[in-house]
Amino acid sequence: MERLQKVIASSGYTSRRKAEELITAGKVKVNNEVVTILGTKVTSKDIITVEGKLIKTEEKVYYVLYKPVGYVSTTSDEFGRNTVMDLVSSSKRVYPVGRLDYDTSGVLLLTNDGEFTNLMTSPKNHVEKEYRVKLEGLLRKEESTLICRGIKLDNYKTKKAKIKDVSYNKKSLTTLATIIITEGKYHQVKKMFEFTGHKVLKLKRVRFGVVNLDNMKTGEHRLLKPYELKQLKILVK
Ligand code: URA
Repeated sequence: MERLQKVIASSGYTSRRKAEELITAGKVKVNNEVVTILGTKVTSKDIITVEGKLIKTEEKVYYVLYKPVGYVSTTSDEFGRNTVMDLVSSSKRVYPVGRLDYDTSGVLLLTNDGEFTNLMTSPKNHVEKEYRVKLEGLLRKEESTLICRGIKLDNYKTKKAKIKDVSYNKKSLTTLATIIITEGKYHQVKKMFEFTGHKVLKLKRVRFGVVNLDNMKTGEHRLLKPYELKQLKILVK
């Protein structure tokens, strides 16, 4: 049994707050009866319509995939490239939570829970994402400080970031570093380092909130553990 507004939100139809508005406005029917009471409990057997449209009430599933390089993180690709969906076997219609670039590897969550996806990808919720990067050139302390304070990219200023575990290869003139950000704008990590003149040669997301790649091999996926799911939900409360 779940609250009606939660079921509508997790179908991806709209946010929980909008779902509440739709319920009180008399736009929601359960088994063909208008329901205006918030918090009405429903089960997966109930037929729910919102503004005449049927809401799908599938059991929710949550996976983490160790995305390899060479896969797009969409459900289909107009250029016929491999997609992460080729790597995930699920009887449910899951899709990626946010995106990793074609040439980025690492932690990618997948789910069929629309509300969870919205919460995890909302810029209002500061879920930490940790990346291991290989950079062209030797990253100087001042450049690192600049990036961590926040820089102006396109038409936004990046939020505070953390950079740690920096090491240099003076032969190949490259830097290895870990960066932690709480946003997820398009090509954000690459753009942040490129701002200081360092091209990103390799990028791997090693952590999303509490979820990491421990004991996983590239291309593998697994269900999120109950405590991981719980912790992620707590992070965005
Ligand atoms: N930042 C990027 O530039 N690319 C990614 O895939 C993820 C974060």
